[in-house]
Amino acid sequence: MPNTPHTPPARIGLLTGGGDCPGLNAVIRAVVKEAIFHDIAVVGFEDGFLGLIEDRTRNLTIDDVSNILTQGGTILGSSNKADPGNYPSRQNPDGSWVYEDRTQQCMDVIGRHGLDALVVVGGDGTMTCANPFVQRGVNCIGVPKTIDNDLHGTDITFGFLTAVQTATEALDRVHTTAASHHRVMVVEVMGRNAGWLALHAGLASGSDVILIPEIPFSLDEIAQAITLRSKRGKRFSIIVASEGARPSGGEQIVDRVIENSPDPIRLGGVAKWVAEQVEDRTGIESRYVVLGHVQRGGTPTAADRILATQFGDHAMHLLRDGRRNRLVVMQQGKLTDVDINEAAGKQRLVPLDHPLLDAARSVYTSFGDGHA
Ligand code: F6P
Repeated sequence: MPNTPHTPPARIGLLTGGGDCPGLNAVIRAVVKEAIFHDIAVVGFEDGFLGLIEDRTRNLTIDDVSNILTQGGTILGSSNKADPGNYPSRQNPDGSWVYEDRTQQCMDVIGRHGLDALVVVGGDGTMTCANPFVQRGVNCIGVPKTIDNDLHGTDITFGFLTAVQTATEALDRVHTTAASHHRVMVVEVMGRNAGWLALHAGLASGSDVILIPEIPFSLDEIAQAITLRSKRGKRFSIIVASEGARPSGGEQIVDRVIENSPDPIRLGGVAKWVAEQVEDRTGIESRYVVLGHVQRGGTPTAADRILATQFGDHAMHLLRDGRRNRLVVMQQGKLTDVDINEAAGKQRLVPLDHPLLDAARSVYTSFGDGHA
């Protein structure tokens, strides 16, 4: 790193890591436009840290970022299987992976491209992957993304509000068919171990039951809430279940384990199970829908385009001010920054005293825990 702390950088690297989400391109656009305006060259790494390991790059120009504000996904590509410090380099005949530390290889790539800093756009996994580079003196500026909204240090990540909108629209559609057929519909949303997405979409759609990982549920309590609605003349019910929701005393349902991924557990299956159990207990026909990756796709909402642009702009301000190893965050409505390590390996879960839980309960939403 030739740069001293208070010298603006001349060349920066940019990568998007982990699962994609709407708004990544809006960040790329903001970073590249502002960088070029200030004569800073931007080298884009393809497919997140994999591009850094394999030295696959693109010099990003104004033309590259023209017309991408509204596009979902990331023009740079992403990967969630490429932690340079613990890289799955090859498979043994028995199927197990051999892991290698490729940090030095990446340092050589950074040196070859003459980069003064790296802008890493991602979630907690991406910030964790950035840590060995921070340790070796690379100035890493983090920009927080994820539809899960579970990144420590920031009140909101971009991508989340678009996913809430997408899930809410899906729940609204399910609502009308549930009403026509007098069914219970269970809709599974993403979110890993955090219930933000289920809580927000459940509240926005007026779901009758919201199941989140932070509040273990009881199937009997869910059945009771549905039966009570029936007795009141409501012939259908909507349950939104976070993929990480689990019964009291039970475990989360794992859909698959991806051995060579830094975060190998993929949750899924809770909606199917809850639908079966509710049907058994209530006698009301119950179906389920898994929204899956639909929630990560599509054009970002206006709010996410604005947030992502603000985040990208703040990242560039930090770099031009010579700030080092910061994570751009939003705290109490204020755009600010914290140490990049703040987010690494931590999850921001829904606190049990969160005001939205109260708001949901006050409109008779059940969390399957027996509390009114
Ligand atoms: O972190 C974002 C997220 O979409 C989670 O909500 C979900 O559990 C996970 O990624 C799915 O990952 P993948 O795309 O690797 O299946």
